[in-house]
Amino acid sequence: MLESPSTVSLPSAKSQNLKVRSFSVILLAGLPSFLLVLAAARPLDSAGGAQDQLPPPLSGRISPYVSTPHRVVEKMLELAGVGPDDTVYDLGSGDGRIVIAAAQKYGARAVGVEIRSELAEQSSKEIARLGLEKSARIIHGDMFEVNPTRATVVTLYQLTEVNKRLRPLLEKTLRPGTRVVSVDFQVLGWDPEKTQIVTSDAGTEYKLFLYVRE
Ligand SMILES: C[S@@+](CC[C@H](N)C(=O)[O-])C[C@H]1O[C@@H](n2cnc3c(N)ncnc32)[C@H](O)[C@@H]1O
Repeated sequence: MLESPSTVSLPSAKSQNLKVRSFSVILLAGLPSFLLVLAAARPLDSAGGAQDQLPPPLSGRISPYVSTPHRVVEKMLELAGVGPDDTVYDLGSGDGRIVIAAAQKYGARAVGVEIRSELAEQSSKEIARLGLEKSARIIHGDMFEVNPTRATVVTLYQLTEVNKRLRPLLEKTLRPGTRVVSVDFQVLGWDPEKTQIVTSDAGTEYKLFLYVRE
């Protein structure tokens, strides 16, 4: 289990394209096409082709980098009722925007886990630039190797297939009452407490799923 200490790409237009192009193709075509989609997505990936640098054992379980628009991030954190007593884990934290928002706007402690070194480094630097090191940090590593048991809120923007693989870890480690908010992709087998549609400033609809662990 990894437990160690912190873009800023702002790819809103690009990421919307990437969202539509990659995630909907993935939905239609399923996991076998996922790696092909990753290759297609790479030119728009503001992480700069970091997939190339991933060790082979990880390459089959890495979602593409697509950032959640800031407005949607706020709605996610509001849906989970995040406040100063919370510890938020963003599994696959990208440019760190959820971690940063949770710490900066909602006063929570926040931990991001990001496999791509550029994004982990970039988001750590942003956390330092904003002076949020006491409440926010990024773990550079594989979310499947992290123990998020301290989380009171977990945020996810991963493919359904990846959520499916994460589910045993979440069920094993999360404490009762922990809220899990997933963007666009369900955690199959769990019943959402609430769902919410949020429209980004660019006019794209995102579906949020709120789960509460029993
Ligand atoms: C769709 S993006 C979401 C980024 C961010 N959470 C957001 O909402 O803006 C998914 C992120 O998960 C990261 N990721 C994928 N698989 C991972 C893994 N096994 N461990 C850690 N990060 C992972 C990707 O590099 C990417 O940055």
